[in-house]
Amino acid sequence: MNDIIELEQTYVVHAYNRPPIVWVDGQGVWLQDVEGRRYLDLVAGIAVNALGYGDPEIAETICQAGKKPLHYSNLYHNEPMARLAKTLVELTPFADRVHFQNSGTESTEAAIKFARKYARTHFGEGKTDIIAFTGAFHGRTMGALAMTPREKYQAPYRPLMPGVRFARFNDIESVRETIDDHVCAVIVEPIQGEGGIHPAQVDFMLALRELTHKHHALLIFDEVQCGVGRSGTFWAHEQLGVLPDILCAAKPLANGLPMGAVLVTERVAQVIHPGDHGTTFAGGPFVSSVANVVVHRISQPAFLQHVREVGAYFKERLEALKHRAIQEVRGKGLMLGVQLDIPAVNVVEAGYRHGLLLLNAGADVLRLVPPLIITRNEIDLAVERLAAALQDVG
Ligand SMILES: Cc1ncc(COP(=O)(O)O)c(C=O)c1O
Repeated sequence: MNDIIELEQTYVVHAYNRPPIVWVDGQGVWLQDVEGRRYLDLVAGIAVNALGYGDPEIAETICQAGKKPLHYSNLYHNEPMARLAKTLVELTPFADRVHFQNSGTESTEAAIKFARKYARTHFGEGKTDIIAFTGAFHGRTMGALAMTPREKYQAPYRPLMPGVRFARFNDIESVRETIDDHVCAVIVEPIQGEGGIHPAQVDFMLALRELTHKHHALLIFDEVQCGVGRSGTFWAHEQLGVLPDILCAAKPLANGLPMGAVLVTERVAQVIHPGDHGTTFAGGPFVSSVANVVVHRISQPAFLQHVREVGAYFKERLEALKHRAIQEVRGKGLMLGVQLDIPAVNVVEAGYRHGLLLLNAGADVLRLVPPLIITRNEIDLAVERLAAALQDVG
């Protein structure tokens, strides 16, 4: 194990803080390290591995798709991508078309480009500003980073993309004070992930939709983390009864292979012409074949019902823990946040000792985003191990 860690430390840019664990395998909701230790995974590669590890249908799909060309380029048509686009649109009442990406960040970048093109086409010059929110995370490239108000992430890279304004999340008055006719889009996560698992309130989202209509601004939902079944419905915004003009998705779409997607209305799609935006890899046949399986499986009513049921059970069990460090348990489906009054990283570290993978979201929130296939028994075990980890840190 140490030789692998040493290799990484010698040859890889030190952009990540990693625990001294080296993975070799995984099955279901379990990961195994080189020393044969098994860990119950409540991280799922940061809300990615929705169908867990070693899924036979995913493995078979990969074998079959791997025997065919992996890449044709967006110069040409390919069947798996066309089928995936149809399925995604049919699952998304507001959307008429899809543009594929390789990651969440690329999806938010595409969304803001589409919004600017839309505004320029319909309203001319000067309508280019974007409103994002406190606590938001939309990615790390220069445009996405400009909409991610974390000093630590932004400071080393200024100047960022200009024209981004910030309003307070779940505070419609602050949006009212910030918006005007120079705003082309408002981007919001229906459940903030990196910001600490904060669901958007229904009233806030309804009023946001009204305000964006009033100012002819597009509403963009960033469902990169909360979308594709994670919240217990296929899209998290289904539980809000508010429809956007553009939706960004990524993380679980291909169960660990890189894929992002931007879903748009026909009106938005109409302003995008060949050459306006593109990428070499996105929507390739290999990754799209896998995404077809993932999207089909996760969108089944029984699968989503399972997420709602085990999610509610998990929340109940966490609330019943009554540990003095736990201030609140929040979230939807299997996107849960445990608000602590102690540093969350201490609990994450203690989790390793108990064979439990945990993740923080900010300084004092534990983020629990396990594979969506997790069972009640596995949740019981996870809660037992979490209690032990909390006990360790006092
Ligand atoms: C809401 C949201 N948007 C965008 C991103 C960026 O996605 P990626 O890391 O795939 O580029 C993330 C990643 O955590 C996210 O949670």
